[in-house]
Amino acid sequence: MSQPIDHLAAEEARHFAPTPEFAANAVAGPDLYDAAAADREGFWADQSRELLTWATPFTNVLDWSNPPFAKWFDDGELNVAYNCLDRHVEAGHGDRVAFHFEGEPGDTRTITYADLTEEVKRLANVLTEWGIVRGDRVAIYMPMIPEAITAILAVARLGAAHSVVFGGFSADSLRSRIDDAGAKLVITADGGYRKGRATALKPAVDQALADRGSGEQATVERVLVVRRTGQDVEWNDERDVWWEDVVPQASAEHTAEAFPAENPLFILYTSGTTGNPKGILHTSGGYLTQAAFTHKNIFDLHPETDVYWCTADIGWITGHSYAVYGPLANGATQVLYEGTPEHPEPGRWWDIIEKYRVSIFYTAPTAVRSFMKQGREIPQKRDLSSLRLLGSVGEPINPEAWMWFREVIGAGLTPIVDTWWQTETGAIMISALPGITTLKPGSAQVPQPGISIDVVDDKGESVGNDAGGLLVVTEPWPSMLRGIWGDPERFVDTYWKMFADKGFYFAGDGARRDADGDIWLLGRVDDVMNVSGHRLSTAEIESALVAHEATAEAAVVGASDEMTGEAVVAFVILKESFLKAHGAEGLAEQLRLWVGQQIGPIARPRDVFIVSELPKTRSGKIMRRLLRDVAEGREVGDTQTLADTMVMSTIAKQVK
Ligand code: WT7
Repeated sequence: MSQPIDHLAAEEARHFAPTPEFAANAVAGPDLYDAAAADREGFWADQSRELLTWATPFTNVLDWSNPPFAKWFDDGELNVAYNCLDRHVEAGHGDRVAFHFEGEPGDTRTITYADLTEEVKRLANVLTEWGIVRGDRVAIYMPMIPEAITAILAVARLGAAHSVVFGGFSADSLRSRIDDAGAKLVITADGGYRKGRATALKPAVDQALADRGSGEQATVERVLVVRRTGQDVEWNDERDVWWEDVVPQASAEHTAEAFPAENPLFILYTSGTTGNPKGILHTSGGYLTQAAFTHKNIFDLHPETDVYWCTADIGWITGHSYAVYGPLANGATQVLYEGTPEHPEPGRWWDIIEKYRVSIFYTAPTAVRSFMKQGREIPQKRDLSSLRLLGSVGEPINPEAWMWFREVIGAGLTPIVDTWWQTETGAIMISALPGITTLKPGSAQVPQPGISIDVVDDKGESVGNDAGGLLVVTEPWPSMLRGIWGDPERFVDTYWKMFADKGFYFAGDGARRDADGDIWLLGRVDDVMNVSGHRLSTAEIESALVAHEATAEAAVVGASDEMTGEAVVAFVILKESFLKAHGAEGLAEQLRLWVGQQIGPIARPRDVFIVSELPKTRSGKIMRRLLRDVAEGREVGDTQTLADTMVMSTIAKQVK
């Protein structure tokens, strides 16, 4: 292929059929669709029995008697960690590498399935001694180091639920997540390496656990700390324990107990349309079934020969399902990398691919676009010939980036699977299957076998082909969220109210079916932004802004951005009293940083505009659509419903 790929039209007409060689060796065949179409629940039951080891086989498949509260494989029992570890060792694969770990400073560790199993057993014994039992919650706030994987699996092994909090989140964000889940234990590290520096984690934990008001209950009894960077940390002798003082000494004998299929496995917080993040709850048997199924078939996993690398942080759902549970359940060999792509220089990721002969590479469009910007010379200096499959997740991948990814990284040959899913869906829902599907750059394409998806109008009627609407899931699926932690009402309201009469799950995404029925994702239809594949809530950032002493009112929008997909743009009205006393000098930048401190650097607005008014309807609702026009430098749309139609020209002047 040697056509110019730099200026593709938005209407993508190119198709790429699987090569005969790929198709001949592909894990997934068309029989999967046939089987799922013939008997959806029976199909999932078969997959679950084939992919997992059940201590007590299930006889029930789906219990949907109390929608939207689903139960899958309800009377079965299993241990999730046993499925990810022990059984591979028992099957004679103990010497297989589970992780090639690469720290950002260049330190490496090779961890086999036997090693990882042993380490998890030791930690499980420590946690048991500390009284962690089934049903407890454990917060994990760690860099991308092997101990993070050990922590996740040890908690799962005991039937407790983990709540992994992304290491880039602030102390405040960590605090609200610890409190909402009522965590008994926090597992953390002194810090980790990013961009060539040791960044700290322990101080945020200290801060999250400090200064409690009289009404607040401190649920955390202990903090387990991995020494990663060796930096100085504050120490609370009654609460804090070094990992190295307890884990290596613990016994490596531990028998995994089987727990019911619906035992909670984890809570993962994600942004919604209102201020406080929601704790998405996932359980064990159904989650692991779909994570393993999709990982095996969509990534065409040949566990004996493939080296698989998912670049997502374990703090996100992609890290949970495709760097921990799916690949480990399938006995895959993975790469785990601690740091950033550009350290010590922009080719670091390609060096890692070359070094470990990575064959399957799963990353985000925003990363692909930043590599495009750096130029193809950088990857072209490396040997990327081991790659045979590429994957994309987090946001729509524009055809131009898709083509670049395939041409420059995939030698013009590798299939690319564009995978649509959400924290709530637990596992991939829409994607090509690489040996079967003829690929279309920019489209996520087809529902997975056993998954029922539709694009509907606001009454829930299917729009058919060649039309756009709202994306819904029309039947329950094994890895679906089981609820929002502590808030069943919000669960029903957020996802199931919109199409209550049909019983559809409302994903919050707009979508279009093309003439062939392939699905194209069009972005969120609610007040949720997608910045570099990370989900952010306008309301959450607005409330951080108004928490600053200078701010009277704030409105936040997601404006389209070439690099990050969307960017956070804030419009802020200052308090008169603050203006009089201090002026507005330097305040926009201060507010940017403030949001970073409040929520985390990913939430920092690209632009903060100080304005004197915000566009509001007569009923007082902020019209974000008009602010988005301003933020994107467009002619401002229809202003008729504004209480004051002049306000937009005032704002436009102030933004300039
Ligand atoms: C939202 C979910 C699922 C892992 C990462 C994000 C958007 C995700 C795609 C894709 C178009 C996508 C959607 C979705 N999204 N993957 N392949 N094409 N959009 O998880 O933070 O729960 O966000 O990300 O808008 O609703 P998340």
